[in-house]
Amino acid sequence: MQAKVVVVGSLNMDLVARAQRLPRPGETLAGETFFTVPGGKGANQAVAVARLGGSVAMVGNVGDDAYGEQLRAALEVEGIDCEGVGVCEGVSSGVALITVDASSQNCIVIVPGGNGLLTPQAVQRFDALLQAAEVIICQLEVPADTVAWTLARGHELGKRVILNPAPATGPLPPEWLPHIDYLTPNESEAEALTGLVVNDEASARAAAQQLLQLGAGKVIVTLGAQGALFVSPEGSSHYPAPKVKALDTTAAGDTFIGGFAAGLVRGLEEGEAIAFGQRAAALSVTRVGAQPSIPYLEELDP
Ligand code: RIB
Repeated sequence: MQAKVVVVGSLNMDLVARAQRLPRPGETLAGETFFTVPGGKGANQAVAVARLGGSVAMVGNVGDDAYGEQLRAALEVEGIDCEGVGVCEGVSSGVALITVDASSQNCIVIVPGGNGLLTPQAVQRFDALLQAAEVIICQLEVPADTVAWTLARGHELGKRVILNPAPATGPLPPEWLPHIDYLTPNESEAEALTGLVVNDEASARAAAQQLLQLGAGKVIVTLGAQGALFVSPEGSSHYPAPKVKALDTTAAGDTFIGGFAAGLVRGLEEGEAIAFGQRAAALSVTRVGAQPSIPYLEELDP
């Protein structure tokens, strides 16, 4: 079966330490638990699509190490098409060093490994996947020229193109914006993209309007417990977040995006797909780790 969603992006092994608080610079801090789980924004989003009812293919790279085999296996077990996952010889797989504190905040250091070697040509080899897809999703954990090529190709093919601008370090190249149908920053990413302070619905709306003026089709600013703001040229709508007790927010944004994409390809309206993604993300934050926290369709209320 041809996948309706293609994710072009990163695969990381997450090395997760939980501690009462995050360490200060120069400090050595005793943690409480440690575990290793498959993650990476791209892979997490692909897993979310698959678990939430969508067919999905992954295009990315791992290294020729044990983590690479585990990362690929974690996707295959979900029924994700991994034909587009390459193995880079003599290179490590991507890793993310994650510390989570008692209030469920996290900080993450990423070493890209094979993700950093994903070229536009490598994605182009899987153009048939892009042609067959309805939705194409990118993030910013692979090289910028690869993201740029994929966004442009997706737009040229008339697909619905989602960019999750994470991690964001500054404004996007202006030529990218017209190729993006849905731009999905969180608060800090919206700040990085626009230079505006974003901490509530009004400031999120201002940032989203700036991004629309720059050429993005529609913008969804995810605001954590404050919900999500959807802004299009026709207007804006706020979607409150389901109330839950958060244990670990890692991959909550990825779960939202995967749920949103899975909803779109199931034929949901945009607003319904946003609410569906929010319900999935809300469940994910009640669990620990990246891919293990992502719920299955059957776990969501009808
Ligand atoms: O979005 C969460 C992800 O960010 C983690 O799984 C980690 O790998 C980093 O890429």
